[in-house]
Amino acid sequence: MYMSTDEIREKFLQFFESKGHLRLPSFSLIPRNDKSLLLINAGMAPLKPYFLGIEEPPRRRITTCQKCIRTPDIDRVGKTARHATFFEMLGNFSFGDYFKKEAITWAWEFVTEVLKLPKERLWVTIYEEDEEAFEIWHKEVGLEEDRIKRMGKEHNFWEIGTGPCGPCSEIYFDRGEDKGCGKPTCGIGCDCDRYVEFWNLVFTQFDKDENGIYHRLKNPNIDTGMGLERIAAIMQGVDSLFDIDIVKPICDKICEITGYEYGKDSEKDVSIRVITDHIRGTVFMIGDGILPSNEGRGYVLRRLIRRAARHGRMLGRKEAFLHLIVDTVIESYKNPYPELVQKGEYIKRVLYNEESRFNQTIDVGLELLENEIDSLKKNKENVLKGEIAFKLYDTYGFPLDLTKEIAAEKGIIVDQEGFDKLMQQQKERARMAQKELENIGWKDINITIEDEIETVFVGYETLETESRILKMFSNDEEVAYAKEGDICYIILDKTPFYAESGGQVADKGVLETKSGVAEVLDVKKGPKGTILHKAKITQGEIAVDEIVAAKVDKDLRLATMKNHTATHLLHSSLRKVLGEHATQSGSLVEPERLRFDFAHYEALSEEQIAEIEKMVNGIIQQAIPVEKIETDLDSAIKMGATALFDEKYSNIVRVIKIGDFSMELCGGTHVDNTGQIGMFKIISESSIAAGVRRIEAITGNKVYEFMVNNQKILKEIKSKLKAANDSEIIAKIDQLESKVGDLEKELERYKLLLIDNELELLYKSALQVGEFKLIINRKDTQDTDYIKLLTDRVREKDSKAIVLNVIKQDNKAIVLMACSKEAVKKGIDCGRIVREVCSVLGGKGGGRPDFAQGGSNNVENLESAVQKAVELVKSAIEGGV
Ligand code: ALA
Repeated sequence: MYMSTDEIREKFLQFFESKGHLRLPSFSLIPRNDKSLLLINAGMAPLKPYFLGIEEPPRRRITTCQKCIRTPDIDRVGKTARHATFFEMLGNFSFGDYFKKEAITWAWEFVTEVLKLPKERLWVTIYEEDEEAFEIWHKEVGLEEDRIKRMGKEHNFWEIGTGPCGPCSEIYFDRGEDKGCGKPTCGIGCDCDRYVEFWNLVFTQFDKDENGIYHRLKNPNIDTGMGLERIAAIMQGVDSLFDIDIVKPICDKICEITGYEYGKDSEKDVSIRVITDHIRGTVFMIGDGILPSNEGRGYVLRRLIRRAARHGRMLGRKEAFLHLIVDTVIESYKNPYPELVQKGEYIKRVLYNEESRFNQTIDVGLELLENEIDSLKKNKENVLKGEIAFKLYDTYGFPLDLTKEIAAEKGIIVDQEGFDKLMQQQKERARMAQKELENIGWKDINITIEDEIETVFVGYETLETESRILKMFSNDEEVAYAKEGDICYIILDKTPFYAESGGQVADKGVLETKSGVAEVLDVKKGPKGTILHKAKITQGEIAVDEIVAAKVDKDLRLATMKNHTATHLLHSSLRKVLGEHATQSGSLVEPERLRFDFAHYEALSEEQIAEIEKMVNGIIQQAIPVEKIETDLDSAIKMGATALFDEKYSNIVRVIKIGDFSMELCGGTHVDNTGQIGMFKIISESSIAAGVRRIEAITGNKVYEFMVNNQKILKEIKSKLKAANDSEIIAKIDQLESKVGDLEKELERYKLLLIDNELELLYKSALQVGEFKLIINRKDTQDTDYIKLLTDRVREKDSKAIVLNVIKQDNKAIVLMACSKEAVKKGIDCGRIVREVCSVLGGKGGGRPDFAQGGSNNVENLESAVQKAVELVKSAIEGGV
């Protein structure tokens, strides 16, 4: 019945594919969007959103072989045949689709018909109250009643932390009496190696929340997990998972490296098995991008590596050796996990670095620990001080659990409280460092840099370096690599990239490794003398420890340098032209332009601006060398360098000296010679606060572009004006202006003529009211001027006229009324009449007795409005109709 592990894996997935399941590849060990879990610890863990109905699964039946890490039983690893921190789990899952009956009968079919395990050696357990499962096993499958064991909640109810869970049913294989402990109580559930539980069928029907409350799921699910290594051991007839086809070569390799012959010494055998287990987990963890650290996933990894390293010591191996086993691990797993092959070299490097670092301190640490333990023993004490455990952790890199384990081997416990207190203090220190990082102003990053690392800035001398990637962060976590599309933060050992400071913006550019390219989006100073590059991976993959070609965008940097040196020239010129008070209050230096804020009480005159521009350009044309002097702050001030008092300067400062013209303290980047600036042009001068002015200016190529653009506009103006040359432009504009004036006058005359014609007509239809004529203009027009002109014209000509305009303009009505003094005397009040007329229209209006206007957004009652006006005029003059 022998079957290789690769074959079992494949047969399982194929079997469930034939039952309508979608096969998905193993998910990464790093949980996606799941803060409740450090590492994937079961086949169902990456599928939680489907179980909870938060996300829609690609199919309601899924099957996987999932890599998993579980550490709670770490101290049993190597001591039993079946415990491991790394394992693969085969699973079939139903999301609200099939339930117990299919799960049980298919499991049985696979075990008995595909794997062909003898039925008489199979046993099952069920949750004690699960009658449904009992019925299926007994009636559908036909298993005898005494082979179905009922177990309590602690055994047959599956849950890990919060999330989907439920009663379960397990399948056991009896390895034979000779493998058992022989105790009369030995049976299913016994801790010995006789009955091996290899498949767990979970009938997921609850969602457990943080408060321990079980919520019934709308659709019950199926989650099964078969331990691949355990079933392989059964199928291969070997005693332990360390003897199966894919694990044995790893064991052998470790024996070969350490020169130990397996089976000679039971304690040393345990060490071999521990290393065998841990190396598999670490290879996969590093492969998935986890790096050793003191927290979270990184801590689990560090603990596994350092634990394995210590077991190496116990086998007498002094030098780093874990990296030497990597190829063998990859060989075992390359079929189902081909991505490991490309990562091999990288995994070795990470392992080697971590192990070597630990090796440097392990002996001193072990000695310290052993001495402590000896003296405790002598004094008949059994508690190791928290201080010692912390020192081992902090100075010698002993994960607390490792110290605890070593102490426990000698019957000593560790004062956890004392350790925690010191740890807390250290965290506080880290938090302060974190604050520093927050101050740099990237809201999307929340990382701690724990180690003393530093970036050397070489961007004054060069724009391109070969650097090494020291650290990378993504989504607030330290990562080992980032791939295309990711945004991450990168720390290099040295960099030519200028980090934003002193008003000068950060450099842009690229980081190139042999496997990927990243675009540098921004650069800021980090804590402890680091420089952080915010970068987007545009191609391939970039990983920690790789050598990168760090290349600053030269054109942008040169343009920025011109603007920075020009800023110093502007600052000096302002003080020379306006007075010493005109000092800097803010500055922004970009590749495109410079912006300079300074103290001054009034707007600059044209002449002052021209004088400043001329002064700066004069210095540019003299091509004066720009000296960069590094000195201490006191000497710099003595030299007479301008310092800004709100800036923080360190002890060593840079002085930028431009002949006798300017001398300032500055950490920015500058051209070597003022001639490089080319040209300087102020493009705006404005006020930004009381007593603070702002100048924006451009240099170099930007001035050239500015000129070219102005030239183009000028040319267009010339051609439109038909001017023969530049000086003719103004004369042409003058000509045009006077021509337009003449035309306007002429137009006015014509308008009046038109109005007089119109008036004649209006007079003809005017209403005689007593001695007055009521002229009603109902012409709909948009031209409001015309109405006014017409009204004035009537008043000018005829003291006996009363004019009423009721005009429609689209959906609006306009009412305008005027009359002579005489008419007012007779009782006409235009204000009152217009008000009333407008109210007929549903609008508003009013004004003086001799002139009033109003309007409405309603044009429906224009006729009645006119009628109303006529009535009111008549009643005013004739005293009633
Ligand atoms: N999720 C279940 C287990 O891990 C199948 O045992």
